[in-house]
Amino acid sequence: MCRSDVAAAVALALACTLSHAGPGTGKAPTWPGIGRPATPAEIRAWDIDVRPDFKGLPRGQGSVARGQDIWESKCASCHGVFGESNEVFTPIVGGTTRKDVQTGRVEALAKGTEAQRTTMMKLSTLSTLWDYIHRAMPWNNPRTLGVDDTYAVTAYILNLAEILPGDFVLSDRNIREVQALLPNRDGKSPRHGLWLPTGKPDVRNVACMRNCAPDVKIASSLPDHARGSHGNLADQDRNRGGLRGQVTAASATAAARGGEFAAVKELTGKAACLGCHGVDRKIVGPGFNQVSEKYRAKDNAEAYLAGKIKAGGQGIWGQVPMPPSVTISDADAALLARWILKGTPE
Ligand code: HEC
Ligand code: HEC
Repeated sequence: MCRSDVAAAVALALACTLSHAGPGTGKAPTWPGIGRPATPAEIRAWDIDVRPDFKGLPRGQGSVARGQDIWESKCASCHGVFGESNEVFTPIVGGTTRKDVQTGRVEALAKGTEAQRTTMMKLSTLSTLWDYIHRAMPWNNPRTLGVDDTYAVTAYILNLAEILPGDFVLSDRNIREVQALLPNRDGKSPRHGLWLPTGKPDVRNVACMRNCAPDVKIASSLPDHARGSHGNLADQDRNRGGLRGQVTAASATAAARGGEFAAVKELTGKAACLGCHGVDRKIVGPGFNQVSEKYRAKDNAEAYLAGKIKAGGQGIWGQVPMPPSVTISDADAALLARWILKGTPE
């Protein structure tokens, strides 16, 4: 009903604000003819938050195994196969130990021994993980994961973090027991300055009032070698909200550096293409010169080869298969195909 349609959201919000008085209230409506009371079903569709005591958690269940499928098809491209990627966000998994699961406090947080804080290190209420994924992920397609799939992918993240075994099925019935295993379940403290309105913050940030820089310069940026490995984030924008992805296409940097194929070296290095293909001789797979010769004059050769580079294949050059390259973006696969077809120019 009102799931992903912005127009419907606006209409509903209007209906909610404008219809305090209306049919059945006995009062004349404030703005006659505008809006109507939201129906219980409409309110239910928006009332999806899950609280720390699991109030609001819908019934359902999902296995670690199912969660792995979802993770690998819908999440790993941004967060890494093991939840370790540091590229679009800090890693989801890592930095917690079995001992933390016993103590309920993440030791690395207290000691500052990890270079950065992962989601798993900080998370103290499991409801937050479930609720956040359900409402906000995948980032480029929020609110498309069903209830059972949300249980499943939550279970898988906890499995990656070595909290749940591989055969676990997470459900509304056992989620409290799993909450009791969270590494940082006792790590949250209200004993700090920001908890109370009268409290003193533990940092002092004085607003600049004169001679201020006209723009704020963001201190961090994506390193060149990381560009392109998750495609172009600017093409993956979600359809609501103000945040817009940066241009992270490999070709953007390549173009900036001057050569169309400047990014190729990095790409072939990362995907180990040249371990199996010589540029001018067969290794395990055909030499790129042979590939170019075979397809150069064919229609759609670039698209065909780009597809094969991503999907892998077998039987065209022999019985040895080429494994799929899951981390290569469409744009980078096309770039590699073009480079091979043009005879692997420097
Ligand atoms: C297109 C890239 C992309 C995809 C695909 C994606 N995410 Fe995310 N994810 C992000 C970004 C960016 C953030 C940080 C968002 C923010 O802080 O506003 C994030 C944040 C998260 C967080 C919150 C971490 C924290 O500590 O706050 C979780 C959990 C998460 N994602 C899980 C998932 C799951 C599960 C999937 C698959 C169903 C998924 N993501 C798919 C980009 C992505
Ligand atoms: C583990 C070894 C291996 C790796 C790594 C590998 N390939 Fe291959 N590749 C092969 C084999 C073997 C074939 C032949 C498959 C066949 O006969 O269908 C092949 C075939 C190809 C073909 C021709 C496909 C066709 O349909 O004719 C292209 C193009 C190609 N590889 C490009 C790449 C690129 C680019 C990379 C790096 C991103 C790469 N390969 C990484 C082994 C590998």
